[in-house]
Amino acid sequence: MWERLTEVTANFPGDARVYLAQIGPSAPSLAEASILSIGERTRAEVFELPFLRCRFMWRRILLRTVIATRLGCQPDEVDLQSSSMGRPFVAGAEFDFSMSHSRDVALITVTSGCGRIGVDIEAVVAIPDQEQIAEIAFTTHEQSELRRYDLSSEAFYRIWTCKEACLKAIGTGFHLDPRAVDIGIVDLAAPTVRRAPRSSRLSLMCFEPTNGYTAALALRQ
Ligand SMILES: CC(C)(COP(=O)(O)OP(=O)(O)OC[C@H]1O[C@@H](n2cnc3c(N)ncnc32)[C@H](O)[C@@H]1OP(=O)(O)O)[C@@H](O)C(=O)NCCC(=O)NCCS
Repeated sequence: MWERLTEVTANFPGDARVYLAQIGPSAPSLAEASILSIGERTRAEVFELPFLRCRFMWRRILLRTVIATRLGCQPDEVDLQSSSMGRPFVAGAEFDFSMSHSRDVALITVTSGCGRIGVDIEAVVAIPDQEQIAEIAFTTHEQSELRRYDLSSEAFYRIWTCKEACLKAIGTGFHLDPRAVDIGIVDLAAPTVRRAPRSSRLSLMCFEPTNGYTAALALRQ
């Protein structure tokens, strides 16, 4: 399974390890699919479109593969659970992990020890209703920053990926109003967290994991 995974090398916060995963287009074999839990197989059935079902199965198979290596067990032995808000976890693990996908690639990140991690990856494509999305999901400060960058896709995705990575590190995802996290992009290459709930101390890093994609990683300590 590791042939589908490539490590992304950079100075990630908290010495996190980041893996880029290929999650398409072929379906997993029966042996590969048998790694999944009954719950994951049931979730996979919900996807009516085969390519979406395959992507889900692959990202779970590969997430299990990475975690199993960290735990020193087999992928099907990983007791992968989800919080009530959808945050995946392994009870009792001394490390944290996060996963994100966009189209047929995924990012899987694992911390070396302390801290809660969140990752987000997005394919950089023009979004026709970008301004309307920003009006709903961005703070007034983020919206004015976006205008300062002439509503560029680069600035939009920078704020979006950082925000989503932070919401995953906090553990709520979009169960929390995305405007609760305020991202500063004075320097597009080095975004900052201007405000976050629950006294979260968040370190951020953005990077380009592969051509045409942008990503952000947040570490909560
Ligand atoms: C977390 C969330 C922001 C990611 O959505 P996305 O951009 O479509 O998908 P990504 O590939 O980047 O991330 C999906 C992964 O994030 C992780 N995740 C899900 N909820 C999470 C949470 N609360 N905290 C941290 N990580 C979470 C899971 O690993 C998930 O993978 P899975 O589908 O295999 O379980 C989104 O799923 C969410 O918040 N969902 C809950 C709220 C909701 O459904 N609202 C409805 C309308 S907005």
